[in-house]
Amino acid sequence: MKLKDLRKVRELEISCIKEYFQETIENKWDDLPQEWKDNLGASSPKHFRPYLDSGLSFVAEEDGEIYGFIFAQMLHHVADCDNLVWIENMAVDPLVRRNEIGYRLLRETLRAGQAQGADVAHSMISPDNAPSIMLHKKIGFFMDRRMVALMDLKDPKLKL
Ligand SMILES: CC(C)(COP(=O)(O)OP(=O)(O)OC[C@H]1O[C@@H](n2cnc3c(N)ncnc32)[C@H](O)[C@@H]1OP(=O)(O)O)[C@@H](O)C(=O)NCCC(=O)NCCS
Repeated sequence: MKLKDLRKVRELEISCIKEYFQETIENKWDDLPQEWKDNLGASSPKHFRPYLDSGLSFVAEEDGEIYGFIFAQMLHHVADCDNLVWIENMAVDPLVRRNEIGYRLLRETLRAGQAQGADVAHSMISPDNAPSIMLHKKIGFFMDRRMVALMDLKDPKLKL
């Protein structure tokens, strides 16, 4: 992911956040305070920089169009880990879902994290988000009742 991608990534992230809110707050998006909406998401002006600089955030792009993104950064000295890949958000354009784009974005971030010496990866998940849960399971994350899916990147049996 590069700075030039940010406008399109922001559009896609906001449309996916709205998609999620449609179910949870019954289409009340327009009534939410603008300042709060502007600060939502990893692509917001307040939050994007460390994700962009991390080398762990990627876009799925074809013919100049962006069809998916993943935002991740390396965290140090948290949860008993020196180097932890923190995956904040990812999404794929609804028109092209189920084409392995999400899988490949997630795999790319995990591979890049391994290459940077990460011990584990933590990824934000919502218990009511079946596609996201299935995706994380497919790639090998461990999940319990927490809102974070875990992966041991030093596991010798791990194949990414
Ligand atoms: C979750 C999301 C990123 C998946 O992207 P995608 O490109 O459609 O996923 P893939 O095609 O790579 O699917 C990989 C695996 O994920 C699981 N999966 C994906 N979508 C699924 C669905 N709708 N139902 C059940 N399993 C699903 C499957 O195991 C799938 O493997 P399979 O096709 O061999 O069965 C996409 O649904 C999305 O953008 N959702 C809205 C935003 C969101 O919820 N982001 C996640 C926040 S962590």
